[in-house]
Amino acid sequence: MAILSTKLIAQLSVLAACSVANANNAPQANGLDAFIEKQRSISLQGVLNNIGPHGSRVPGAGAGSIIASPSTENPDYFYTWTRDASLTLKMIVDEFLLGKKQLQPYIEDFIRSQAILQTVSNPSGTFLPYGLGLGEPKYNADLTRYNGAWGRPQRDGPALRAIALITYSNWLVSHGQKQKAKTVVWPVISNDLSYVGQYWNSTGFDLWEEVRGSSFFTTQNSFRALVEGNALAKKLKVQCIGCDQAPQVACFLQESYWNGEYFVANINGNTGRTGIDANTVLGSISAFDLNAKCDDASIQPCNSRALLNFKAFVDSFRNATLYPINKGIPQSKGIALGRYTEDIYFKGNPWYLITAGAAEFLYDAVAQWKVQGSLTIDKVSLALFQDIYPKAQAKTYKPTGKHSEFPKILKAVTDSTKPLHSTQPQPRI
Ligand SMILES: *[C@@H]1O[C@H](CO)[C@@H](O)[C@H](O)[C@H]1NC(C)=O
Ligand SMILES: *[C@@H]1O[C@H](CO)[C@@H](O)[C@H](O)[C@H]1NC(C)=O
Repeated sequence: MAILSTKLIAQLSVLAACSVANANNAPQANGLDAFIEKQRSISLQGVLNNIGPHGSRVPGAGAGSIIASPSTENPDYFYTWTRDASLTLKMIVDEFLLGKKQLQPYIEDFIRSQAILQTVSNPSGTFLPYGLGLGEPKYNADLTRYNGAWGRPQRDGPALRAIALITYSNWLVSHGQKQKAKTVVWPVISNDLSYVGQYWNSTGFDLWEEVRGSSFFTTQNSFRALVEGNALAKKLKVQCIGCDQAPQVACFLQESYWNGEYFVANINGNTGRTGIDANTVLGSISAFDLNAKCDDASIQPCNSRALLNFKAFVDSFRNATLYPINKGIPQSKGIALGRYTEDIYFKGNPWYLITAGAAEFLYDAVAQWKVQGSLTIDKVSLALFQDIYPKAQAKTYKPTGKHSEFPKILKAVTDSTKPLHSTQPQPRI
């Protein structure tokens, strides 16, 4: 079966894109902030170039159609996927909220395009009330149905699209445009939430489009969509059909994927794999909420199980027979990471985007501990901290007092993502 590879994570963060764009000119550890400052607009423009109708790399793409890649062969990714497009739009909305007001037309084009796309009958099914068509993973660049064989349905698409549009709607509400949020955006969000409410407990294909079952990433984003949708519906004084399912989704997320050591990425299907997979780390990044508590049902990056799961994932790539690139790198340092160790797609090698995504996971957790002014290490997460900060104990650390270890531990976590030999400037050849 044809599958995606290089598409998905490009959208997770602008920073992730940086590592690829400048692979030959790696940022020095102390110059990382300066690098990001410079790279940010270059990466953003790179994304905009892939959006119709005016994107310079995607002639023929419809208005609001976010194309996975200009590549048309080996692999052919000149299509729009609901998951990828929604993650991209979420990043664009975040940049818009941070002040790039010139991005608003892209958001509005997207909303219009999706309002139409939701109604397009396709091999997965039709529009509501039955609604199975919303689980269709990909469409042609010109926003018509794609009829080829594919791993369908993929149920994370509607959840991710809802999350991106809810974020934008919340901005509209807080800027005096509640009516617009209610009449223009909410109908699109509502369709997606209905779908999530109706089908979260059915199997589908995972984010790598390879295995059928229940996927941690999909369940986690379904939960976030329903919770945030419910909150928005209250503000708009509209009914959210589907949102009442949130508590059941939370239970499923909490109870069914954890095996005592890590979150099994795909369940309710026969994968023949360990289940250790970037799926579960990327899930927590996509559910990231700076102000959430670490024991929140959404399983944030600072969640103890998420941290132990992170260690299981990273350690699975420390096998130097499989990944000679990681040979000799100490346990306290980050390594090159791929999707999962059984991967054979394009030889299943580590991938810049996932490596950067893993760093993002740790930065998210550090940001949360800073906001909370507290870090609780427990028996579950202790093993990860001991890799990075050997003196770590299972207790609560606070930033108060002259000899507080709190800043040292946070710094150790951040520094674990930096390249081993980055303190000396490399000569330019
Ligand atoms: C449906 O939900 C139940 C209860 O959480 C769970 O045990 C089961 O695995 C779920 N099945 C699917 C396909 O999501
Ligand atoms: C590393 O991978 C090889 C090849 O799959 C396997 O034979 C070996 O047992 C692995 N080593 C460890 C320590 O897991």
